Amino acid sequence: MPLDGKHALITGSSRGIGRGIALKLAEHRVGIAVHYYQNERAANDTLAEVRKRGSDGFVVQADVSRPDEIKQMFRKVQTQFKTLDVFVSNARPEVPAFFQAPLDITLAQWDTAFDSQAKAFLVGVREAIPLMSGGGRIIALTYAEGSRTGGLQPWVGMGSAKAALESLVRYFAVALAKRGITVNAISPGWTENSVLNTLPPQAQDLIRNWHVRGWTPMGRLGTPEDVGNVVTLFCSEQAGWITGQVIYADGGASLMNPEVPPEIQLG
Ligand SMILES: NC(=O)c1ccc[n+]([C@@H]2O[C@H](COP(=O)([O-])OP(=O)(O)OC[C@H]3O[C@@H](n4cnc5c(N)ncnc54)[C@H](OP(=O)(O)O)[C@@H]3O)[C@@H](O)[C@H]2O)c1
Repeated sequence: MPLDGKHALITGSSRGIGRGIALKLAEHRVGIAVHYYQNERAANDTLAEVRKRGSDGFVVQADVSRPDEIKQMFRKVQTQFKTLDVFVSNARPEVPAFFQAPLDITLAQWDTAFDSQAKAFLVGVREAIPLMSGGGRIIALTYAEGSRTGGLQPWVGMGSAKAALESLVRYFAVALAKRGITVNAISPGWTENSVLNTLPPQAQDLIRNWHVRGWTPMGRLGTPEDVGNVVTLFCSEQAGWITGQVIYADGGASLMNPEVPPEIQLG
């Protein structure tokens, strides 16, 4: 679809990857509903950048782990935009709200992960559909490594929630196929200017060096702009035959074999 004049809601677009997605779509003159949770100033900064790129939009606040707030968010989208073409479910709570190993995770932390991912997507998609027509695009941000591995123990809540999210993507893809609406997930690798930058500097260095040393064959971490480009591709008319997929956007990191050091694999 020509993107000019379309409307998108991107949850968690005040910062990080969501912001990168908002700004890439704005370059294509897509109107943007910039969603935030607590950081209104960052959301307003994103909106100012959207406008600098020749597009427009508004900011909207909601806790996506609360279905009533998701519904209010979509009422505002309906009032402002009337219709919606792109819904990107990207928001994710701060790491301490869910980061706990399987033997210790509290039910509140578990609920935070599931409510903000699987349940938020279930509710959000059902709110988005009445505003969408044929050619609509629904995209979820996942972290597929966390949904299929077990090594990073305190990721159990979010990993399990992302697995449920990816499953929902497939079920909704079938449910919405006849309406011409596609539903897909994007799985970025570690990305600069996002949650990574909230980790202790030593952890950031370890992660960056590991990827630059070879775990990411392209030799760098991703950026929010990289992910924004992938969302833009999904929003094109030419992507209309792709639905129900989890697409890795990670410079090849997911192709590496965890049993062999990167130096040997890369030759
Ligand atoms: N960063 C990575 O390396 C990476 C890798 C793979 C997948 N991902 C996925 O990409 C997505 C974005 O990650 P990120 O690292 O870019 O995030 P981030 O920089 O930590 O930003 C999180 C965003 O979510 C919002 N948010 C936080 N809690 C919320 C809540 N309860 N309700 C609604 N919104 C809430 C924040 O709003 P405020 O600004 O108002 O707080 C912010 O806009 C996530 O789904 C993540 O799992 C990230």
